[in-house]
Amino acid sequence: MPDNDFGEGRTIVVTGAASGIGAATAKHLRAQGDHVIGVDLAGVDVSVDLATLTGRAAIVDAIRDLAPHGIDGIVANAGVHRRDAMTVRVNYFGAIASLEGLRPLLRLDAPRAVLITSRAVLLPVDDGVVEACLAGNEGRAVSLVDALPGDAEHTAYASSKRAAGRWLRRTAPTAEWAGAGIPLNAVAPGWVNTPMTVRDRTPADVARVMAARPMPLGGRAESTDIVPAIAFFLSPANTRITGQTLFVDGGGETLMCQEDIWNGAARDEQRM
Ligand SMILES: NC(=O)c1ccc[n+]([C@@H]2O[C@H](COP(=O)([O-])OP(=O)(O)OC[C@H]3O[C@@H](n4cnc5c(N)ncnc54)[C@H](O)[C@@H]3O)[C@@H](O)[C@H]2O)c1
Repeated sequence: MPDNDFGEGRTIVVTGAASGIGAATAKHLRAQGDHVIGVDLAGVDVSVDLATLTGRAAIVDAIRDLAPHGIDGIVANAGVHRRDAMTVRVNYFGAIASLEGLRPLLRLDAPRAVLITSRAVLLPVDDGVVEACLAGNEGRAVSLVDALPGDAEHTAYASSKRAAGRWLRRTAPTAEWAGAGIPLNAVAPGWVNTPMTVRDRTPADVARVMAARPMPLGGRAESTDIVPAIAFFLSPANTRITGQTLFVDGGGETLMCQEDIWNGAARDEQRM
């Protein structure tokens, strides 16, 4: 282990660490001896608003100050489930800025990065929003979300997460990430009992959403059910997996995508 700012253990940045999945991840990592730098709007080590350019610059400055010898892992987890443009600002542009901004601070020993997307990557999206995100055009993404029809309950959220998932697959094999020895993977939860899912929802509303998205393993997930997948992707033990999305959704993705998800894959040996 190179020079360390916090004694033994790896130094991991977790965004959205004040609540839900991020808080459960931080708790688990601390219990196993890691040093966690929590990032959120308030209430943890670094208070920034990842919806803003200022906040995205501030997270990098703050982590550099707190961990001048560098960090070992990033969990880009902060997110919102809303119909408005805050959804793309936080879930796509805030998450990607966190990963890209903090990547140069990763140390050489066993650097790892994890993006929290969602099973919602499988839901219908607005292609214009997704393409605007991937083009890095936040102004266009925001105006397209603002123009979505009022009854589009999940479109902004699904579009922000689909774009993030596509960014991951596009980015993980590049020189900056895989070429620098940094595995970059996503965890895509199904429905999890957190403030995000219960906030502003009646029990009947929750039951309706659950019925529409069956999970073969049954029941409802808690934040702690998502943590092992995040912890594995972060661990030095993950030496050969990158660019992957692991659905932690009780088997829901298998129902939605069915059996042969590889049919469209490149078979051309020139590309293998
Ligand atoms: N709960 C679920 O069912 C579920 C399912 C799939 C994916 N997810 C994803 O998991 C991640 C965590 O969600 P959760 O369920 O724990 O929700 P949560 O609301 O409990 O936690 C999200 C955290 O992100 C923080 N955050 C929001 N906007 C921010 C901003 N602008 N700047 C900095 N921090 C900000 C919040 O303050 C909060 O602490 C999100 O990316 C979410 O989309 C959740």
